[in-house]
Amino acid sequence: MKILVTGGAGYIGSHTCVELLEAGHQVLVLDNLSNSKLDNLEKVSQVVNIKLDINETKACDFSFIKGDVRDKKLLIRIFSSYTIDGVIHFAGLKAVGESVEKPIKYYNNNVVGSVVLIEVMKKFDCKTFVFSSSATVYGEPHTVPIKENFPLSASNPYGQSKLIVENFLRFPNQLHFFFAKTVFLKFINLWYYIKSKKLLPIPINPIQICFNLLI
Ligand SMILES: NC(=O)c1ccc[n+]([C@@H]2O[C@H](COP(=O)([O-])OP(=O)(O)OC[C@H]3O[C@@H](n4cnc5c(N)ncnc54)[C@H](O)[C@@H]3O)[C@@H](O)[C@H]2O)c1
Repeated sequence: MKILVTGGAGYIGSHTCVELLEAGHQVLVLDNLSNSKLDNLEKVSQVVNIKLDINETKACDFSFIKGDVRDKKLLIRIFSSYTIDGVIHFAGLKAVGESVEKPIKYYNNNVVGSVVLIEVMKKFDCKTFVFSSSATVYGEPHTVPIKENFPLSASNPYGQSKLIVENFLRFPNQLHFFFAKTVFLKFINLWYYIKSKKLLPIPINPIQICFNLLI
């Protein structure tokens, strides 16, 4: 399958690229590098021993395009040029504290970005979507561990931005029946489980400090 990984140069995205490439999928990363470096994908390329293409050579198994998910023209160009079988959408801002200080930045990036992406997917009949949501959509849960069917709520703009997108995807007769498969990933303070030494060379290397991680 040809998978578009938005935010694929980031922390979770770059590790996901390793798994996808090793499973034999073709990967196209779209990332604006606002919180990552191209180096991360060069490291992925070394780990999986597959060349990273940055010149939009169509036949490549692992390609990178620098750009923003809110750029509809760019997305249309990507979906016109490549047959994308599914999208894993990691591109987003993720710092709860910053989202309280700069809510518009978070709604704009996380909500608008997702809506533009989904709109273009629908236009090109691409029906498989994995959305990187967050456990913050459960607000202040009464008990832990959190169960998937716990009530949804959000107590900050970051969580709200994820919940808006989840609800947009769930709303009956809107998109729910368009997507053949929609998956919500709901991590909390993810610290990648390094299951083999081959993943060690990939640095986290964020430009911004990981405010949301408990280190
Ligand atoms: N790391 C965690 O513990 C955690 C927990 C819950 C949810 N999440 C979610 O998972 C996703 C990935 O998290 P991460 O830890 O890998 O973050 P990250 O910051 O390392 O990766 C996000 C990537 O998205 C890119 N990006 C951001 N906005 C973009 C845009 N508009 N267009 C294109 N690229 C853009 C950044 O440059 C970065 O490479 C995020 O959506 C985050 O909200 C992460």
